[in-house]
Amino acid sequence: MKVNGTDYRTVWMEGTTVFFIEQNLLPFEFRIHEARTYLESCHAIRTMMVRGAGAIGAIAGFAMAQAAAEAPLNSYRDFIVKAKVEIESTRPTARNLFHAVEKVYAAAEISAGAASAEAQNVADRDASDSRKIGEYGSELIHDGMNIETHCNAGWLAFVDFGTALSAVYLAHQQGKKIFVYADETRPRSQGARLTAWELKQAGVSHTIIPDNAGAWLMSLGKIDMMIVGADRIAANGDTANKIGTLEKAIAAREYGIPFYVAAPTSTFDLKCPDGSGIPIEERNEDEVLYQEGVTAEGRLERILVCSPGSSAFNPAFDVTPAKYITGIITEKGIIKPRRTEIQQLLSSELVK
Ligand code: MRU
Repeated sequence: MKVNGTDYRTVWMEGTTVFFIEQNLLPFEFRIHEARTYLESCHAIRTMMVRGAGAIGAIAGFAMAQAAAEAPLNSYRDFIVKAKVEIESTRPTARNLFHAVEKVYAAAEISAGAASAEAQNVADRDASDSRKIGEYGSELIHDGMNIETHCNAGWLAFVDFGTALSAVYLAHQQGKKIFVYADETRPRSQGARLTAWELKQAGVSHTIIPDNAGAWLMSLGKIDMMIVGADRIAANGDTANKIGTLEKAIAAREYGIPFYVAAPTSTFDLKCPDGSGIPIEERNEDEVLYQEGVTAEGRLERILVCSPGSSAFNPAFDVTPAKYITGIITEKGIIKPRRTEIQQLLSSELVK
């Protein structure tokens, strides 16, 4: 994806240094950060400098490769086992993190070099899957459509292209006239800050809406389709995504609006029979109590936006039952969120 005319990936590794776009500074400042050790990469995931299922997966894979490179020869295995546990403890919900760490750890058991090559494969696969999701998803988008999306499922959330927004970008490049309503997505405002910034970079017409405006716009007939990303999809199609997704899906059903989930097969978790098995991250209450923004002088500042002394509850994800989902757009094709179709999808090379 291009930023000011230059091609960037969200996260990449050169030698044993991981480079990434510092997402906490966007859209106010575009800065590349470095993580020189696996613990620095863990810190980047925990603090959401790198966030979004695929991007988290890629940096977690790179962190596992860094750990293999850092491991002392006389305690190599103990070191990588401990590092795996540490990396897997950074964020609990996105399946892609565990998928990447498991793959790179298996390679690390052979050698540090194999781990580095595998981490690169995981990142490259994430980018190519995202691209294919865009190809399938863009077929669903027609000229003149108004599309609502929640959170950020764009190229910042993956190594490149994104999932929900990959379809939007491709439809836009195909010359279809489309308009995107980006849910603000409190408390971290990924929609208002990241999705809106991405859409502007890509020249896609859009506007930001408050989180509680979606149902009203749907009732007015202003939304033709909703596409969101996913952090983990259970074996029956129940889907964990950013908090607030569930109520959009229910509203979409009420108003007869197609509700699509876009995600690569690395987001599916057959070990979770249904959504009740998906771990839901609870984050610090400060994310609700405080908001960040820039002053007129351009200084990034954090201010209290709630009644002083009140506490806040901050679940980061919710689970949308499969019955509300029209289809899941994957790199292998579009499927119905049904157990049999999901099993077939994960065991086949291609469906469509
Ligand atoms: O907490 P985040 O920002 O890492 O949440 C992940 C997300 O961006 C969304 O839930 C997204 O829709 C799935 S990842 C493409």
